[in-house]
Amino acid sequence: MMSPAARFINLLFATLLLLALGAHAQTAKLPNVTILATGGTIAGTGSTSTTTVGYTAATVGVQSLIKAVPELAKVANVTGEQVFQIASENMGNEHWLTLAKRVNVLLAQANVDGIVITHGTDTMEETAYFLNLVVKSRKPVVLVGAMRPSTALSADGPINLYNAVLLAGSPDAVGKGVMVAMNDQIHAARDVTKTNTSTPDAFKTPELGMLGYFQGNRALFYHQPIRKHTADTEFDVSALTSLPQVDIAYGYANVGPTVVDALVAAGAKGLIHAGVGDGSLAAKVLPSLKAARAKGVIIVRASRVGQGILARNGEANDDALDFVASDTLNPQKARILLMLALTKTNNTRDIQRMFYTY
Ligand code: SIN
Repeated sequence: MMSPAARFINLLFATLLLLALGAHAQTAKLPNVTILATGGTIAGTGSTSTTTVGYTAATVGVQSLIKAVPELAKVANVTGEQVFQIASENMGNEHWLTLAKRVNVLLAQANVDGIVITHGTDTMEETAYFLNLVVKSRKPVVLVGAMRPSTALSADGPINLYNAVLLAGSPDAVGKGVMVAMNDQIHAARDVTKTNTSTPDAFKTPELGMLGYFQGNRALFYHQPIRKHTADTEFDVSALTSLPQVDIAYGYANVGPTVVDALVAAGAKGLIHAGVGDGSLAAKVLPSLKAARAKGVIIVRASRVGQGILARNGEANDDALDFVASDTLNPQKARILLMLALTKTNNTRDIQRMFYTY
């Protein structure tokens, strides 16, 4: 016969066990999201709360970023890894390869539902597009940053991070490719660009349109990307340790051949010509581009304008010159696609097909 005291203790343990099981079941229902931290302003600190320029990027570690937003625990089981701690102007091809391989390893695990990458905003669109072409999974990958350092009044990092985790764990985000979560908006990696040096609404997808909004603790989609991405691309970085050298030559009034000649002499395998208007080629530059092509360098005509289709055989006879048109990709994203294209082929027709596919 159990004493009343023993019965009470048994009952207490049973109740505590049930509560613990209940809490576990609730956490287990949440998506598992891994945050890969790379630095940037989201991890930046300034000397005062009103310092919003001239601060130091990439100083706060991933665990502190997570701790600063306790609300994350309500929407996902979050784990963090510090992959790099850099300002994003220092992001290089080798960082991209390391990051892409880590993302692919994590997404292949059944216990990872989505990934958030914290990143400096300066080159975020480039990293996002690179991953959009080489991640081999349909699970959500979301890049997020901040325009204001973590120490600033009205820092945008915490809400951006919360939204990014919400998006990475959302079933609606599956199959949408790599996305950027900034300023309560969801953007597709291919088309988003940074449009302002310092304001929190810097990220836009002008003309082609963003994918959706964050509101009421939900990621709400209105569009989806049409161009092929992630699991549907032909690119594979798993065995790569470097990428071919591709550089950008800028067009402007009075431009001469110096930059193109120097880049070719420095070993560029591909050149993006960021031309004026619809990618026009100045008479003083064209002979250098022709000479580069004759040496085997792949020339892609892009535009410095920022919007619109670069018309093949429009401002230059691409067929005769054996050049490639960038379609709607801006010069910095055309550089990424050309690097990856060159890991597969040197055939300009095939490369042009890729520019119309991705
Ligand atoms: C950076 O890109 O690392 C600095 C600027 C920013 O994150 O906004």
